[in-house]
Amino acid sequence: MTTTTSHSLAIAAKGLRKAYGDKTVLDGIDLAVPAGTVFALLGPNGAGKTTAVKILSTLIGADADDLHVGGHDLAADPQAVRAAIGVTGQFSAVDGLITGEENMLLMAGLHHLSRSEGRRVAAELLERFDLTEAAKKPASTYSGGMKRRLDIAMTLVGDPRIIFLDEPTTGLDPRSRHTMWGIIRELVTGGVTVFLTTQYLEEADELADRIAVLNDGRIAAEGTAKELKRLIPGGHVRLRFTDPAAYRSAATALREAARDDDALTLQIPSDGSQRELRAILDWLDTAGVTADELTVHTPDLDDVFFALTGDTTATHQPEETVR
Ligand SMILES: Nc1ncnc2c1ncn2[C@@H]1O[C@H](COP(=O)(O)OP(=O)(O)OP(=O)(O)O)[C@@H](O)[C@H]1O
Ligand SMILES: [Mg+2]
Repeated sequence: MTTTTSHSLAIAAKGLRKAYGDKTVLDGIDLAVPAGTVFALLGPNGAGKTTAVKILSTLIGADADDLHVGGHDLAADPQAVRAAIGVTGQFSAVDGLITGEENMLLMAGLHHLSRSEGRRVAAELLERFDLTEAAKKPASTYSGGMKRRLDIAMTLVGDPRIIFLDEPTTGLDPRSRHTMWGIIRELVTGGVTVFLTTQYLEEADELADRIAVLNDGRIAAEGTAKELKRLIPGGHVRLRFTDPAAYRSAATALREAARDDDALTLQIPSDGSQRELRAILDWLDTAGVTADELTVHTPDLDDVFFALTGDTTATHQPEETVR
């Protein structure tokens, strides 16, 4: 036994199983999240991400060979687990009929803070999440980003050491998403452990120390973003033509390239490095090939996701156009 024990891990699960009727949602998964790190659980709709969050945050029961959160056994001591964690659900816990401040004070009450302490903590968090100005307005008037920030602020009232964020940025615009990423990074700098679920591979790439891809009730792959990207075939350069004749002559000249006769594109395997790109461009010049568009595709987590979750219908192309 040289690896970390379940007690030095913020979250430790072995053989976690959950079924609804005869439908198995989690089919014996293992999770190990060291304290102070960000763990991202990825998976398509219905994969069981929310189910995992609900189990680990004591909201629903499950079978497991071992289940520890914050060093406490989930089955034996759910109260201690609850005291150590904060949960921001997939769907907002914000009450729209009352103000942001009142939502915060309600949370403070739930955490048994004194009136004055509750006010102090609420004011501090509202300030930190840039909600002071809106604090006295009904939360129903908040934008999606503001509601999400209020959601997280409410989660932090009890000063949890472990936070579960179920799709924290779904539906947010790019600016709000970046704000949320900043918030999450700050939490981690403060020593908090973050367990997040997301549909956005880019988000996991940005934030997570380790990523697990959930598919069909099992962890299809687990590792750092780098490790996951290494699992799938490398990148390529894609040449696109508009003129079928130009495409055909290029395809003849570049016999090593993979053809897509319908899309009039050719794909040349490449790691996307400057050296390889130069070689490819030289080769095109020599062959007298001028493509209408040249794009460089390096594998990203989306590719990993599609490869692992078997979704081949998606046409995903976040490529950088060179010319
Ligand atoms: N209370 C329930 N009763 C029966 N089935 C349920 C229940 N809750 C969830 N499920 C099923 O469990 C599966 C996993 O659901 P879950 O909400 O965990 O998925 P998810 O990964 O969070 O999906 P999404 O990305 O859409 O949020 C789904 O097939 C869902 O229909
Ligand atoms: Mg969900």
